[in-house]
Amino acid sequence: MHIGMLEFSIMKGIVYCKSKFKEKDKSLPFSCQQVTTLKDILNSDCPIMIFREDFLKRRPNLNFSSFENKTCLIHFCKKDVNNIKVSKELGALDYFTDEDNIVEINFKIQLAKKVSKLQKEISDLNNRITKKNSKIEEITLGDPLTGCNNWRHFLRSANEELTRSRENDHSVSFINIDVDNFRRVNEIYGVQVADILIKELVELLKKNLRKDDVLFRWRTDEFFIVIPYSGRMPAYEAAKRIQKKITEHKFKFKKIVITIKTSIGVVSFPEDNVSSIRDVISALDMCRISAKRKGGNAIVVYTQPSKKVFPKVKIKGDIKELRGRLEKMDLTITRDLVEMIYGFARAIEAKDSCTGKHVEYTAVIAEKIAKTLKLSKEEIANIKHAAILHDLGKVGICQSILSKKGVLNTEEREIIKTHPSIAAEILREIHVLRGAIPSILYHHERYDGKGYPLGIKGEDIPLGARIIAISDVYEALISDRPYRKAFSKKKALEIIEEGIGTQFDPNICKIFLQIIKEVDGK
Ligand SMILES: [Fe+2]
Ligand SMILES: [Fe+2]
Repeated sequence: MHIGMLEFSIMKGIVYCKSKFKEKDKSLPFSCQQVTTLKDILNSDCPIMIFREDFLKRRPNLNFSSFENKTCLIHFCKKDVNNIKVSKELGALDYFTDEDNIVEINFKIQLAKKVSKLQKEISDLNNRITKKNSKIEEITLGDPLTGCNNWRHFLRSANEELTRSRENDHSVSFINIDVDNFRRVNEIYGVQVADILIKELVELLKKNLRKDDVLFRWRTDEFFIVIPYSGRMPAYEAAKRIQKKITEHKFKFKKIVITIKTSIGVVSFPEDNVSSIRDVISALDMCRISAKRKGGNAIVVYTQPSKKVFPKVKIKGDIKELRGRLEKMDLTITRDLVEMIYGFARAIEAKDSCTGKHVEYTAVIAEKIAKTLKLSKEEIANIKHAAILHDLGKVGICQSILSKKGVLNTEEREIIKTHPSIAAEILREIHVLRGAIPSILYHHERYDGKGYPLGIKGEDIPLGARIIAISDVYEALISDRPYRKAFSKKKALEIIEEGIGTQFDPNICKIFLQIIKEVDGK
């Protein structure tokens, strides 16, 4: 070995391993930490490791591949044809001998340092990629709205859980929860409220799960729960408990209160013959359909479909005639239902204002405005329905508040403000009135956004609601109320005009004033 210490900064971070440690080997041409045991090497954080030949000879089983992210070199005594072979077998980057000159050794160590630096960069890059991948996985397996696990995640987890249950001979159950008529919630209250409701529902579901149960969201309003180590009966009990919690919960947003009902399916392995995730999904689908056929708000536990073949029934007679009769029946039922609700609305009105004319007059004005705006037949009908039913929610307000002679206090005013939301809840499930509900729900919103139940403003307020708002207020102004006498028509119109652009839509107000002029001019 050539004597003399090399002064290269790159020669820091080297651990040098030899079998005996009598005194420091001063003949080494680089600065290094000298050690004699494998433990010392492993404890060292130097990125480059040099093994002297004598150290290796005492440990024939040593392989450098176990030194992760380290660059290894071998220091042989002599030049030998076997040096390359030994280095390769052990996994060393290179070797040097006592016969090499100082420049050659220096070059090899510099190279080792560069390789080590590159290795570190690759390792850092790999770490970054791993972190990014787990973020991507989080995104692809998570539901962006609720943070809940998504459908893809369900497929993966449910599959794993089925396999684990089969291998370890234990049970697993799956629950499917579908919100009844959620589409209607979307239509009536809008996507924003529907999204808040779903987020709150996820929190409610999470609160009611056991530690091992996992929740997944599928589509807008459908959820799956995987319940490990649970047979059919405990899963059914869990479904009952969850359904009760959901039914009893009041979802509140500003002045809106919504309650929901759910259709739930339960399937279990191994009790039910479901051996794959496909079987689980189709079984849960059958449960859901069956629960919906029962009218919703039901729990259906999976049972094997019957193999019994039903005889085909031949339908005699004219199918056209049958369909015609059914359509007539449907119309009659719809008409009867609407009449019933109208009657109910009038009864509520009697309870409220005692005049019995409020809704009729409101509806006449609203219909005239709708016709002047040249709205479609369907839109006009919806506005008329909404005008008649707009105060239906007062059925939920106590008589003492409705007929109070004095000024309402804050608490009473807040109670009154819930009537549009109560009406929407009552009418939500009635298909034929679905187009009228937004106008009912928002008839107390103001053009400037200071109304209720949500405080939406301008064109965000449904057109029907803006029309009813003005008709409703005008009729109320010209009628006797428990707390005041009727205003004159002149005074009422002045009050309406004061509200242009703040309480009322200016365009609709213009049409309204024209119509009133025509009506009163007759
Ligand atoms: Fe009202
Ligand atoms: Fe009213």
